[in-house]
Amino acid sequence: MKHWSRRDLLKFSAKLGVLAPAAAHAFASESVHGFPGAPSFAQSAKGGNNPSPRERILFDSDWRFHFGHASDPSKDFNFGGGDYGFGVFAKTGYICLPAFPNFDDSAWQPVDLPHDFVVALPFVNAPELNDWSYKPVGRNFPETSIGWYRRVFEIPQSDAGRRISLEFDGVFRDAMVVLNGIYLGRNLSGYAPFRFDVTDFIHPGEKNILVVRVDATEHEGWFYEGGGIYRHVWLTKTNPLHIAHEGVYVTSQITGNSADVSIVTEISNESETEQFCRITQTILDATGKVIATVVSDPLSISAWATQKISQTIRLDNPSLWSLENPNLYRLVTKIESTTSGIIGGILFPAVLDKCETLFGIRSIHFDADHGFSLNGERVEIKGMCNHQDHAGVGSALPDRLQYFRIAKLKEMGVNAYRTSHNPPTPALLDACDRLGMLVMDETRMFSSSPEGLSQLERMVRRDRNHPCIFLWSVGNEEPLQGTPTGERIAATMVNLVHKLDSSRPVTLAMNNHWSQGASAAVDIQGCNYFHNSDMDKFHSDFPRKPIIGSEEASAICTRGIYANDPTRGYMSAYDTNTPGSYASTAEDWWNFFAARSFAAGAFVWTGFDYRGEPSPYKWPCISSHFGVMDTCGFPKDTYFYYQAQWSDKTVLHLFPHWNWQGREGQPISAWVYSNCEEVELFLNGKSLGRKSMPPRGHLEWQVNYAPGALLARGYKNGKAVAEELRETTGSPAQIKLVPDRASIAADAQDVSVITVSVLDSQNRVVPVANNEIGFAIDGPGRIIGVGNGDPASHESDKPHLQLYDLHGALIYKSRSPEAISGLSNAPIQIVATRKVFNGLSQLIVQSQNSAGEIRISAHADGLSSASITIYSNSRE
Ligand code: GAL
Repeated sequence: MKHWSRRDLLKFSAKLGVLAPAAAHAFASESVHGFPGAPSFAQSAKGGNNPSPRERILFDSDWRFHFGHASDPSKDFNFGGGDYGFGVFAKTGYICLPAFPNFDDSAWQPVDLPHDFVVALPFVNAPELNDWSYKPVGRNFPETSIGWYRRVFEIPQSDAGRRISLEFDGVFRDAMVVLNGIYLGRNLSGYAPFRFDVTDFIHPGEKNILVVRVDATEHEGWFYEGGGIYRHVWLTKTNPLHIAHEGVYVTSQITGNSADVSIVTEISNESETEQFCRITQTILDATGKVIATVVSDPLSISAWATQKISQTIRLDNPSLWSLENPNLYRLVTKIESTTSGIIGGILFPAVLDKCETLFGIRSIHFDADHGFSLNGERVEIKGMCNHQDHAGVGSALPDRLQYFRIAKLKEMGVNAYRTSHNPPTPALLDACDRLGMLVMDETRMFSSSPEGLSQLERMVRRDRNHPCIFLWSVGNEEPLQGTPTGERIAATMVNLVHKLDSSRPVTLAMNNHWSQGASAAVDIQGCNYFHNSDMDKFHSDFPRKPIIGSEEASAICTRGIYANDPTRGYMSAYDTNTPGSYASTAEDWWNFFAARSFAAGAFVWTGFDYRGEPSPYKWPCISSHFGVMDTCGFPKDTYFYYQAQWSDKTVLHLFPHWNWQGREGQPISAWVYSNCEEVELFLNGKSLGRKSMPPRGHLEWQVNYAPGALLARGYKNGKAVAEELRETTGSPAQIKLVPDRASIAADAQDVSVITVSVLDSQNRVVPVANNEIGFAIDGPGRIIGVGNGDPASHESDKPHLQLYDLHGALIYKSRSPEAISGLSNAPIQIVATRKVFNGLSQLIVQSQNSAGEIRISAHADGLSSASITIYSNSRE
């Protein structure tokens, strides 16, 4: 057994040292996030050449966290226990103990946002937790369902007189927000954004205490939802005369070779006096060049009033936003004082507020006979539904991971994303705007109650400038969908969306009752699962109603597994399994839609596996495996079916792997996905026959297993154009680490996603390996999660430097090396471990605020170690 040692590590270091300058140079020319023009994620929007009194400050760092208790006040900081003088809401300013300035939070865990307190909880085999990934959250688990967050901060005295607000991108869920002891409000939704104006309650020049009590007891979905402040928080400061929150709305109308860009701006005067100003709109192209400006007439805005103004700019020969060229324009909206000159040292016309909106110019159209078109051309929706969690991090995804996930889908040939079944984080939409991915944006609560409409309104107002969004959805598979009540609810919701955004249609994803209830109220009929009802009949009965397959497939398979295994909860990766008669295999649904151009195409359930909803087996399976990729984004075989059908690449994919020791002479089913015309298969050099690819299908051979090489050769026009080899590998010998990006930004936000693989001595991934790997890290970075896509893994996704008991007390600091078998003499601290699953696992490393080299090494019993360096760079 080989133990890794500090010497091994030094050996690796030396190798890397030689490579470092070249690697650094290679990345120097790359934009920091690998996407030209991508802005700093989640950065403060302060400053620029045109000084703006507006500041939007990321409020993600320096929080402290502690579990509370959902039923016992004595374990919930006596919240509601009533023994600190007042009832909770009796007097303003004294709502809960943690909001008191002298409250001692030193035993609370320091955390940065985004933070999901559920992902680090142990798995519990309780049947009622099945849908939520067997994590102990709910009425039966009061000690792990409430999270308290506390942040102490200061703002300068010079902020006195500004309007200040706190903005939450999303908290799961039922968040009570308290500033300086004052109750600001509650937000029920775990997905809709919310904000509070805190001008009256904040103390410039003094210490401020922000407390958020999060109650995740109730679920909103039937899938893993996480818990806590799992998206960004922002502190925004403006002049009293300012652009209203989400107060710029841009649409465009293309006529011939030009586009009329219409901008509606809401201006709020939150001061005691009438204000005079004008509004300047400037459009910059993707290179940053100013291409148009329009200035409004002088305006007077009454005290405490909000006024809307509309302006239009004509652009000639606009560069359109499309899937291939997702061109974005930048709109800069300014409020300028109408007085000029130098007064009190300030140059007028002074800019009183300024904000920027990215937008795209494109046309969308739905047609009942021809489906959907973008910029005048029919586009078949080759979409995928997704939940929001990812391996390692649960629901708390760094923004960069959104780009990682969208890029993976795009590589497969996917052109649309459905945010099932809730409003997404804004970073997801930014990624879709920039990478060219259409989005069906869905609200969580199907209701025309004030709560339901408020959630919907917040989603639409926030998201309506994103060119990626082509369709709004007001819900999914609602039991009331086919009833008169469902129709009334849908009609009110659709009406609200139309009022807020006249530029896109609205659908409801219905799994039945097409033609009844809500069907009449929506613009586009959303059909979940063609097996559920008769889509052709609907089309002939309602020939003027456009149709989209809002959800299809629900095929189930586990990466690298080729036989169903109820004990471990795995499903074979051959495209043969579905959980019920409503669902269909990839080939089944795609053949159905490919033959019906009247429908706009469809969304597969799902692109990525997600925690919760394990199907069809339950415990020990804790994740779904509907994904075409696993929870890490490692492709399953079906990925290549879609890629062959949907992308322009030449695709030839052969499976399964060829490590079937013990099955010599037995038949193994070999499948091929390809967009070649013919494919020939060889075992150890001997042809097993050449076959024509069936359209939208796959090829299959029964091969009597013999170790060696199984080779597929693809032909187009009779010429060999591609080869794919599956070889019987040797046993695991070494670890390999490959980062998706070796250079990241030193902003405590950016991440590198590292693929960990176990190879044999000839550098081939061992497709059945399951070695446990330990990871060490050094330098200005930290491991924020590990995963491997195994739907039955109960390993921790989190590093275990410190352990806390259920009440948040530190019980164990610094993981003992003994915890990792065989590494007890390890001289370097292992901070995370994970088995590879069928050869692969994933490590997510985040930068810190200081630049430098982040060195990561991976170690396992009996395997040669591996080490890489990630360069964390300061921004200029
Ligand atoms: C659908 C539902 C999805 C998921 C899927 C599993 O009916 O909309 O959320 O549950 O079934 O097949």
